[in-house]
Amino acid sequence: MTETFAALHRRSLADPAEFWADAARAISWQTPFATVLDESDAPFYRWFTGGILNTAHNCLDRHVAAGQGGVTALIYDSPVTATIQRWSYQDLLARVAKIAGMLRDLGITKGDRVLIYMPMIPETLMAMLAVARLGAIHSVVFGGFAANELKVRIDDATPKVILAGSCGIEGSRIVRYKPLLDSAIAMARHQPDHVVLWQRDQAKGSLMPGRDHEWAALEAAATPADCVPVAATDPLYILYTSGTTGVPKGVVRDTGGHLVALAWSMRHIYDIGPGDTMFTASDLGWVVGHSYICYAPLLVGATTVLYEGKPVGTPDAGAFWRVIEQHKVKALFTAPTAFRAIRKEDPNATLLGAYDLSSFRTLFLAGERCDPDTLAWAEQTLGVPVIDHWWQTETGWPICANPVGHGRLPVKPGSPTVPMAGWDVQVLNDALLPAPAGEIGSLVVKLPLPPGALPTLWQNPDGFRRSYLSDFPGYYKTADAGMIDDDGYVFVMSRTDDIINVAGHRLSTGGMEEVLASHPAVAECAVIGVGDAIKGQVPLGFVVLKAGVTTPPDQVVAELVQLVRDRIGPVAAFKTATVVQRLPKTRSGKILRGTMQKIADSQTWTMPATIDDATTLEEIGSALQHLGYAGGTAGSTTPPSPSSPDRG
Ligand code: COA
Ligand code: AMP
Repeated sequence: MTETFAALHRRSLADPAEFWADAARAISWQTPFATVLDESDAPFYRWFTGGILNTAHNCLDRHVAAGQGGVTALIYDSPVTATIQRWSYQDLLARVAKIAGMLRDLGITKGDRVLIYMPMIPETLMAMLAVARLGAIHSVVFGGFAANELKVRIDDATPKVILAGSCGIEGSRIVRYKPLLDSAIAMARHQPDHVVLWQRDQAKGSLMPGRDHEWAALEAAATPADCVPVAATDPLYILYTSGTTGVPKGVVRDTGGHLVALAWSMRHIYDIGPGDTMFTASDLGWVVGHSYICYAPLLVGATTVLYEGKPVGTPDAGAFWRVIEQHKVKALFTAPTAFRAIRKEDPNATLLGAYDLSSFRTLFLAGERCDPDTLAWAEQTLGVPVIDHWWQTETGWPICANPVGHGRLPVKPGSPTVPMAGWDVQVLNDALLPAPAGEIGSLVVKLPLPPGALPTLWQNPDGFRRSYLSDFPGYYKTADAGMIDDDGYVFVMSRTDDIINVAGHRLSTGGMEEVLASHPAVAECAVIGVGDAIKGQVPLGFVVLKAGVTTPPDQVVAELVQLVRDRIGPVAAFKTATVVQRLPKTRSGKILRGTMQKIADSQTWTMPATIDDATTLEEIGSALQHLGYAGGTAGSTTPPSPSSPDRG
């Protein structure tokens, strides 16, 4: 009889070493590991110590060696450039080996960092694999970030080489990457030895003599490079993600644990293997893109779709259905916001009728809480299971999901179902005690984390302890609040820190406040995330001006909106701010952001007993109404939810 998923999960927690040693058979090791779970430096756990392998070998070479070279590995589907290209495993391997040769010629060796600032084109995925081939460490920076964010990442990762695209295409807008990169390097303390530019016809970039090179010419002159074996515990990549300040956290991904976890997830969660096509509509700059556009589909010998377009407007809300039909997609993975955008444009899904979706089996959603309404619409429209699953940049693969490949469990709307193998998810209250079933508290994971999850932060082990391990000793803090019901289903309600999710993109309101506070007219400020019908949440700023400022408030607001766009990037989607006389605070000076958010979202809220001056909240309520936000009901006895903390 097939093992139930609950039994599998218990087994994974009872004897992690045996469980993951078995899962590790899916990977090709040059030297087998000596220890499965190395606890010698706990709470810094390491997986598969002694093992030697290479990620690119596992994703490309071994499939070609096994006679699968002719299978399609990558489909580049770009409605914004009217291009569709297919790459077989052997063609992709040939390109990746040449690009690795180009990087080797520029001096890249094992452990060096290569920063990748590129749009959704095949060369970006190839660059990631080429860096992995050399045993070097990549750090991909999402194209929607501004020069300042890029600069911060350059200084932290200290790359020898930066690979860049000349431009990205956002719908019909061309985003020139090279000027942003030049200004980031000009601001950075660290200077790369080389910049290699992939020129796109839509907008070419200029080259700085001595430092910059034309990618195509360098690649043409290079000879292919072989895979460089690395330790299972060596880093494959660093991916920066929003922390609770403007300084991003460099999440480290190791080599061995990452591949083992991805292989397990493809079989047990996504049900994708050789012969299947996976379409992950995200961006290579996010963790979802790293894991499920690039590495996992190739690791298991499947076909991956790299889509340069949007769910709507390229050209219409039928874009995803067209891709599914044309490439015979079995699983689509995107964020709920994409479905809200499609639904807004085509509420009755009339465009769907034009396409044959017979290959399509499952829709996976993640990146933000999936509201039951969107889930129901997607289920009814598509007629396939819609699977909400919960994960973070830090975890690299889902913490909770529905194990579709193992045997699908009933879906409960609002829940990403149950913890996956190795994830011992618990809910703790403020006294650090387990919360009873159904009660909301902090979602934590008992250590050790399973393979694939972050072993540390890049050159910042203290930051790793501080951010994730110190608040709940013995546990990893997810910084999400939620509950577990009587059936063991997990419900993720929202963050316990200042992170907001805007269109599935993770952003720090604290980081935005730092930008607002740097404006000369601003005395103090607060940024909160407010509900948005399409993007889930959007940031909203409140600013108090310094005494004597004569600039009209509208002008200050316009400058602030531009400042956030310039410093953080368009992806922050910071479009609205308002000038107020005072910010509501507790007597100890904490700004009541959580209460402000509840008022904006028309939720029931309680007047905090410790408020300094109750009239400040009334003023905020009127300002919100002025901006079109309804305002909640005061005076309720409902305790504030942990999802919207009042922060200092
Ligand atoms: N390079 C440059 N700019 C970018 C960018 C990139 N890679 N990605 C986004 N931006 C820009 C957008 O053009 C937009 O600019 P604007 O303010 O000038 O309009 C801004 O950043 C905000 O982007 P976004 O919040 O994504 O809004 P949007 O209107 O462009 O698209 C959706 C909205 C819902 C269609 C889009 O966010 C989406 O498809 N999301 C779901 C998939 C996803 O990305 N999930 C992530 C994790 S799974
Ligand atoms: P990121 O690191 O960008 O992947 O963002 C991770 C955060 O997104 C999590 O900590 C959650 O707050 C949120 N998130 C991701 N997936 C889900 C989900 N399925 N349900 C609820 N929240 C989610």
